Amino acid sequence: MIPVRGLALLALSFFARSAIGAVFQDPSELRGTQYDFIVIGAGTAGNVIASRLSENPAWKVLVIEAGRSNEGYDSDLIKIPFMGPLASPNTSFDWNYTTTAQSALNNQVLTYPRGYVLGGSSSTNYMVYTRCASDGYDQFAEIAGDDGWTWDNLFPYIIKNEHHVPPNDGHNETGQFTPNLHGYEGPLFTSLPGFLTEIDDRVLATTQELAEFPFNEDFNSGNPLGVSWMQSTIKGPLRSSSATAFLTPALDSRNNIDLLYQTQVTKLFQTGTEHGLPVFRGVEFARSSSAPRFNLTASKEIVLSAGAVGTPQILMLSGIGEPSELRSVGIHPIVNLPEVGKNLQDHPIVPLQWSVNSNNTMDPILRGEQPAFDDAMNEYTTQGSGRIAANGVSNHMAYFRLPENSSVLATYGDPTPGPRTPHFEQAYGNGFFTTSQQIPTSGTYLTIINVVVSPTSRGTITLASSDPFAHPIIDPQLLATDFDMAVMVEAIKSSQRFTAAHAWDGYVTGIYTDAANTTTDAGIVEYVRQWATTIKHPFSTAAANADPNKGVVDGKLLLKKARGVRIVDGSVFPIIPGGHTQTPVYIIAERASDIIKAAWP
Ligand SMILES: Cc1cc2nc3c(=O)[nH]c(=O)nc-3n(C[C@H](O)[C@H](O)[C@H](O)COP(=O)(O)OP(=O)(O)OC[C@H]3O[C@@H](n4cnc5c(N)ncnc54)[C@H](O)[C@@H]3O)c2cc1C
Ligand SMILES: *[C@@H]1O[C@H](CO)[C@@H](O)[C@H](O)[C@H]1NC(C)=O
Ligand SMILES: *[C@@H]1O[C@H](CO)[C@@H](O)[C@H](O)[C@H]1NC(C)=O
Ligand SMILES: *[C@@H]1O[C@H](CO)[C@@H](O)[C@H](O)[C@H]1NC(C)=O
Ligand SMILES: *[C@@H]1O[C@H](CO)[C@@H](O)[C@H](O)[C@H]1NC(C)=O
Ligand SMILES: *[C@@H]1O[C@H](CO)[C@@H](O)[C@H](O)[C@H]1NC(C)=O
Ligand SMILES: *[C@@H]1O[C@H](CO)[C@@H](O)[C@H](O)[C@H]1NC(C)=O
Ligand SMILES: *[C@@H]1O[C@H](CO)[C@@H](O)[C@H](O)[C@H]1NC(C)=O
Repeated sequence: MIPVRGLALLALSFFARSAIGAVFQDPSELRGTQYDFIVIGAGTAGNVIASRLSENPAWKVLVIEAGRSNEGYDSDLIKIPFMGPLASPNTSFDWNYTTTAQSALNNQVLTYPRGYVLGGSSSTNYMVYTRCASDGYDQFAEIAGDDGWTWDNLFPYIIKNEHHVPPNDGHNETGQFTPNLHGYEGPLFTSLPGFLTEIDDRVLATTQELAEFPFNEDFNSGNPLGVSWMQSTIKGPLRSSSATAFLTPALDSRNNIDLLYQTQVTKLFQTGTEHGLPVFRGVEFARSSSAPRFNLTASKEIVLSAGAVGTPQILMLSGIGEPSELRSVGIHPIVNLPEVGKNLQDHPIVPLQWSVNSNNTMDPILRGEQPAFDDAMNEYTTQGSGRIAANGVSNHMAYFRLPENSSVLATYGDPTPGPRTPHFEQAYGNGFFTTSQQIPTSGTYLTIINVVVSPTSRGTITLASSDPFAHPIIDPQLLATDFDMAVMVEAIKSSQRFTAAHAWDGYVTGIYTDAANTTTDAGIVEYVRQWATTIKHPFSTAAANADPNKGVVDGKLLLKKARGVRIVDGSVFPIIPGGHTQTPVYIIAERASDIIKAAWP
């Protein structure tokens, strides 16, 4: 891990700004104010919703966020792209969740980061920008019974959301993406890698050499299969988040959007009955468990955007969920929706490293060695360029399906919705990247990250207590199915074939000692059980479903068996998309904003 020492403080201009919309930290200041919409969670989805709804000057919008400001003297970790991985776990930007003991991972308890800051997880994530496969959206549309969620129908929202900008190093990006698939006027900035590395040409040479690893000009076309150049939510030397792209510009330019932050929503409360169904237009919130609680109501809708952990937690605290589970923690059930907090899906990740014959500066920087680290920091602070300005994860990312005749598919079946959806992901990293291993004190390395992106495992979020300030119980069941483990084994074997290409001759010198036993399937499984963790994509805990007896929201994302509440965040996807999840959240939030506008003409 990169040492935090040596971080330079960025220019004061980042937090010297004045909002027109009001910003509160004291809930009592809101007393008496009326809102049309209350958005819960200033995260990835919530800020899109709040910003888009406030485009209508006749509407008054309030956003309530539990976490801290994204600005200020101590926010470098969430601004400087290379530092993103240091923003969690266990920092002031993190909820500090942990999982239950994961049975497939030697009963390890894992940290489970979620952004606790304006921008939510878009402020603390690793900035990978992947829209994922078109057939995943088409499946969403089918399960939700609403054609608006198909890839083709969402495409205008994808373009509306994005502003592709040149890479920070100004290199010629021709051939590294497909320009006409991208947006150039949206709020969210995206770009190709801002710092080229010595492995880039070898990765591309491997795509020429081995048919198994074809080059794909742009993994964001709806067909992500193959090896592509990375795209990230970065502009110049800075992260672009839902706070910088949506919330701050809206607060700066409009007086009909208010923000209350460092204040946690403790539950929704019933405000009446319509057509025999309970109406939940009330929100209760507090600054801490011992602080006074406050109530507000929305005249039109509550939009719940607290993410795949926070959203089911708030629902259950409000008496919405599986009745006997709610009673067991002393909560009076009001709405019988047994799938709240069920269906949790996530992506397991395992890195594999090789020693390389190189004098790269990446490993010394990762170890915080001098002069490499200070040189890189100085370049960042004086010129806004170099490695520290770029996404450090990798410059190429790849998505693959198991072969048609794979014994894994023959044994377990194929859970993917179509031929464009991958079974696993790889990312090729210049340097020793790890999620839980010790970084070796010397040497230079190549890392291939392997991720199962079409898991069949399903986990749960349940309440530990009726105290809203107690963490919920998070059990992602990582790699708990035989299919998921079998796919991970295939991914690792694939990454071993990748580095066996001639393109790596004279560069890759041997597998890292931790992976010495990955020469057999049994040895790989043992390695995976020890080193796998979450890639931090919890999803689908309040899923959309057209069937009135299934799921938690309908095709328009309205809470079932109730009135007044819509859910817009990663929890509504029936199935987790086969890639990184921030972009799918941005995409559905853009359309959901238009659905809400249309619902209140
Ligand atoms: C460390 C990390 C790395 C990741 N890397 C990537 C990546 O590189 N690329 C990618 O595509 N995806 C990545 N992801 C996943 C991606 O960021 C998330 O899937 C996505 O941002 C989720 O959006 P959301 O709107 O559902 O939730 P969030 O963005 O998490 O927003 C939820 C918000 O609600 C707030 N909230 C929760 N409960 C309450 C409450 N009771 N009261 C008030 N506010 C509340 C939270 O504080 C938060 O601000 C990463 C995630 C993490 C954590
Ligand atoms: C979290 O960070 C705090 C403060 O830096 C430290 O005291 C604590 O030990 C850390 N906890 C874990 C679980 O790492
Ligand atoms: C998470 O842990 C850090 C370090 O101990 C702390 O500063 C932060 O307040 C914690 N987050 C929450 C939500 O309590
Ligand atoms: C970038 O490269 C392409 C293809 O090699 C070339 O046509 C184009 O002129 C280059 N652009 C610039 C600005 O040099
Ligand atoms: C908020 O409303 C709920 C439901 O009507 C009520 O039980 C609670 O006492 C109210 N709290 C405050 C602080 O007014
Ligand atoms: C690394 O540097 C050493 C010392 O300068 C040199 O002997 C060696 O050839 C270099 N290795 C590579 C791969 O460039
Ligand atoms: C699958 O097909 C490929 C190419 O035809 C072949 O090389 C391979 O052995 C087959 N694998 C199995 C498990 O049948
Ligand atoms: C490899 O397997 C052997 C035999 O089971 C074991 O003793 C050794 O610790 C393993 N090595 C690693 C790095 O896991």
